[in-house]
Amino acid sequence: MKILAIETSCDETGVALLEASGTARAPRVRVLENLVTTQIPIHRKFGGVVPNLAKREHLKNLPVLFARLCAKHPRLKFDLITVTVGPGLEPALWTGITFAQALAKEYRVPLVGANHLEGHLYSFLLSQSEKKSGTGAAQKNIFPAIALIVSGGHTVLLKLDSFSKWKRLGETRDDATGEAFDKVARLLGLPYPGGPEVERLARTGDPHAIAFPRPMLHEKNYDFSFSGLKTSVLYYIRDHAKFSKKDVAASFQEAALDVLVKKTIRAAREYGAKSIMLSGGVAANKALRARLARETKKAGCTFLVPDFKYNLDNGAMIGVAGYMAYLRKKRYKMQARGDMEI
Ligand code: KG4
Ligand code: ZN
Repeated sequence: MKILAIETSCDETGVALLEASGTARAPRVRVLENLVTTQIPIHRKFGGVVPNLAKREHLKNLPVLFARLCAKHPRLKFDLITVTVGPGLEPALWTGITFAQALAKEYRVPLVGANHLEGHLYSFLLSQSEKKSGTGAAQKNIFPAIALIVSGGHTVLLKLDSFSKWKRLGETRDDATGEAFDKVARLLGLPYPGGPEVERLARTGDPHAIAFPRPMLHEKNYDFSFSGLKTSVLYYIRDHAKFSKKDVAASFQEAALDVLVKKTIRAAREYGAKSIMLSGGVAANKALRARLARETKKAGCTFLVPDFKYNLDNGAMIGVAGYMAYLRKKRYKMQARGDMEI
């Protein structure tokens, strides 16, 4: 079936068209279009996402992206529409929901809600490198799996028994990983979003120059905490007039990655995982990808990560989440839920 997917949870407007087939045990998806407009230049001036500006921009961008899709596919047809209903910024989510409702009425097709975090979780299925990841992986024996979802709003560790059944092992008790990167970037005078900026700077610094704390690393649970780490960076900067920006960036990143990777691997060993999945905006971090890939291999597991273009928010990942929700008969209410969980 053909699926039209809409994403407006934060500062990316996404409209995608997918071809989906297969079952909930072995889904197959192919991305036909993945149109994304980023609002980063608009929010950058404010150092973060301004919800009402995000809403205004989504309202402006949605019809433009849909018109572009229609222009590329003159006889556009789809069998299902899916839209993110949460988690995210509620004014932003509503723009996508009302737009999707209007289209569903006009085209007379069913509409299903999608969970943004499930979008990240399943995003490796969009990968075109079929053998290593993507749809090819769905045909292999990858369960039980451990999934680490790291974004600007969330840090969650899951244990999956199948594509439809999972348990939350842990999550952050305060800041999300991406949020910590963004806040540290601000302390270093770098623009929003800070993740890619910190990563760039970290490449030239010494990751062992400053011994920042590894919060909750040795606690016997799978929760995370990043606000203490961010505060340590703040104190370090305050107490060292001539600090090295690149060493702070590299040492902060090293501390954050240390906790994420070690706890994920510990969970994989405890639950006898066959694969480890990494997703969310922070999964675009090359150092995290490389390190988790290396440790995953050492633990004898398969590493499943989306192509770079599917790490940040996009419509295609919502298409696969919507398809899975449809197959699983999971019907989310057509209502924005900012604090929705996975
Ligand atoms: O998944 P995403 O696009 O939006 C949410 O659902 O939150 O994630 C955005 C987050 C931002 O906090 C951004 O700074 C972070 O992902 N991020 C990165 C990198 N690229 C994006 N963090 C670390 N390293 C990166 N290369
Ligand atoms: Zn996201």
